[in-house]
Amino acid sequence: MSMGKPLPHDAAPLHVSGAARYVDDIPLPANALHLAFGLSTIAHGEITAMDLSAVRAAPGVIGVWSADDLRARFGAVPDCSPSAHDEPLLADGVVKYLGHPAFLVAATSHLAARKAARLGRIDYRELPALLTVDDALAADSRFEDGPVIWQKGDASTAIAAAPHQVQGSFEVGGQEHFYLEGQVAACLPQDGGELVIHSSTQHPTEIQHKVAHAAHLPMSAVRVEVRRMGGGFGGKESQGNHLAIACALVSLETGRPAKMRYDRDDDMMITGKRHDLRILYRAGFDAEGRIAGVEFTHLMRCGWAQDLSLPVADRAMLHSDNCYFLPAIRIESHRLRTHTQSATAYRGFGGPQGMVGIERVIDHVAHAVGRDPVAVRQVNFYAPMGEGPAEAGGASPPRSTNWPPEDIFRQKKAGEIQTTPYHMPVEDFVGDAMVADLLASSDYHARRAAISDWNRNSPILKRGIALSPVKFGISFTLTHLNQAGALVHVYQDGSIQLNHGGTEMGQGLFQKVAQVVAGVFGVDAAVIRITATDTGKVPNTSATAASSGSDLNGMAARAAALTIRDRMADCLALQHQTTANTVRFEDGHVHVGAEVLGFAEAAARVYAARVSLSSTGFYATPKIIWDRKRGTGRPFLYFAYGAAVTEVVIDRLTGENRILRTDILHDTGSSLNPALDIGQVEGAYVQGAGWLTMEELVWDAKGALRTHAPSTYKIPACSDRPPVFNVRLWNRPNREDTVGRSKAVGEPPFMLGISTFLALSDAVAACGDGSVYPALDAPATPERVLAAVKRVARDV
Ligand code: MTE
Ligand code: MOS
Repeated sequence: MSMGKPLPHDAAPLHVSGAARYVDDIPLPANALHLAFGLSTIAHGEITAMDLSAVRAAPGVIGVWSADDLRARFGAVPDCSPSAHDEPLLADGVVKYLGHPAFLVAATSHLAARKAARLGRIDYRELPALLTVDDALAADSRFEDGPVIWQKGDASTAIAAAPHQVQGSFEVGGQEHFYLEGQVAACLPQDGGELVIHSSTQHPTEIQHKVAHAAHLPMSAVRVEVRRMGGGFGGKESQGNHLAIACALVSLETGRPAKMRYDRDDDMMITGKRHDLRILYRAGFDAEGRIAGVEFTHLMRCGWAQDLSLPVADRAMLHSDNCYFLPAIRIESHRLRTHTQSATAYRGFGGPQGMVGIERVIDHVAHAVGRDPVAVRQVNFYAPMGEGPAEAGGASPPRSTNWPPEDIFRQKKAGEIQTTPYHMPVEDFVGDAMVADLLASSDYHARRAAISDWNRNSPILKRGIALSPVKFGISFTLTHLNQAGALVHVYQDGSIQLNHGGTEMGQGLFQKVAQVVAGVFGVDAAVIRITATDTGKVPNTSATAASSGSDLNGMAARAAALTIRDRMADCLALQHQTTANTVRFEDGHVHVGAEVLGFAEAAARVYAARVSLSSTGFYATPKIIWDRKRGTGRPFLYFAYGAAVTEVVIDRLTGENRILRTDILHDTGSSLNPALDIGQVEGAYVQGAGWLTMEELVWDAKGALRTHAPSTYKIPACSDRPPVFNVRLWNRPNREDTVGRSKAVGEPPFMLGISTFLALSDAVAACGDGSVYPALDAPATPERVLAAVKRVARDV
């Protein structure tokens, strides 16, 4: 059985030897053109004049286009938006952020195009730029008419009636994706006007759709191929549209192949990042820290275009409970329009922003009641799940209504089902059991005591420790995206080719799906030939996103493989005058009656019998239903859980800090591949910790992003990994009927990084007498840690 084996990434030898091909490595015909954008140098203004004569005259330049030129040639300025049709390929009369592409250059080399793009002269009539959350609120500049509000119960009454209250305001920074391979696309014009596009994208169908629209072609005339990305992290769900469209238009104009690759600075200046936000909160609770009601206001800075901001902000709201049953809650979400890069998808898709809000509240509540934050987390957990798989019905725990509760501070009963703020019953809660396991394995309580002692004798260095749990909803909240297709071929020599709609960005999706298919045929995973994602093979795909890649494509590929296997079994059974259900596919062999055939021999016989050895497969996620306007339903098939304990040390004189040790227990259901899953958990934790500690985006007063290169924007390096890093998987089957009873793993462990932030807050608290809450903002850079130390030590 191939599923569940800790096989290495299928392309690992290619990655480490440099032989793996990315878009930029694909040899292009000698006449290929290279493209670059000329960028706006102000954040907001009308273009009054554009002098591109020096650009045209520059060496190697073949063509230069402004928005007006595109309109004259194509009837309209092509749109790049994945949602609201509000992203013309080039600024159309008005520039809306500093870095906005304003003209397009095609030249005979990459360098020639980039050099020429610097020579454009643009005159502007400057307009007021809304750069911050406060600017946007004051101007009522937003997407949608007003804030989105979801509620359960009457939070304000519950807070007022509770014995204690806290309130606060919390700044949370954005995050640059910093995929190692930047955005890139290439277009190869074919005969008959067809286009082949190579793109570094998580969403080939979207590239196909947008290119077809821009070029006035049917989707059938555009084929998009993606072998792999050098990382995407959500930054390649929509941000690759511009490059692919630009290449397609230049190919149509010139008849020549065209390639566009952003230089790193351009990539950081042009493309969207994680949404930063301010979270306002109020909570009411009892002496044990049990929460009766919470109110959140999310002020999300969405940038100049809508992009994916609405579903990102929704997912932030959907994760405002994390692992906690909140009897009454009100969430108000503002999607603010500013003159900055258009914020986009980033691992967790808003979930981390929502989750860090409730974790901050719990931390603040624990400080107010003077209890260990772990104890406060535990009293607020959802009730644990009952035993047995979902479809067994009888084994499900009894249901109860939660609102209005007779006593909002009552003790919960095990097996009772409670609902989320969006009224979905939580049927699979294992956070309590996982936390209990992790507290023991990480020796949390003894270490907390030891850290207090250590801090008492250490005037300068202070340690801190924190646990944070994760509950992350799995499924796209736009219900129709929860579908996938696959195409499997068995050749007459017994070799097998696999194709599906998912894309590979380093996460190991291709290997996992290959293991699923290998399992169906009873062959070694190495027998399965993994092929590039191709809109010509599997059409109408969803982005590889929402961590759903293996859930969706694994099921679709399994369906395709089962169809072929059933045909083979029927055919061979007939030849051997036995029944199909006695035919077994095992260890590279097919057992038919008393005979044992090699898989190749079996394939050859089925071929000779004129039976098809090729099949598509399809999957649509069951059970989900979601009313976005009212904020109710079952947006997720299930939840993935996890918990982390992080210990840190800070220097109270400088604010410098580092992680000393991290222990993680993460829920991947029955893991499809524990080696790849542990890799995802480790990488996601470090990326999550980076978001909340060292990764800082800085815009100046003019709206220029000053941190647009690795010299000024610091992501965690190998040396920032925890020196002690214990990662374990909670290897128990998913209650829902997913592929191999596994669970999605791509995004959920990102939020384990929140424990790092909370541990820093704990270390800061140790610098005072405990009377002042540190109220640390994120990212907790040394400067912010130092400011918080001064607050708690009252030496401001
Ligand atoms: N892992 C690597 N190595 N590189 C990536 O770009 N992207 C993450 C996650 N893990 C990413 C990654 C994001 S944002 C998502 S949504 C999932 O992988 C997508 O892949 P999956 O659905 O197959 O898990
Ligand atoms: Mo991931 S942010 O859903 O691409």
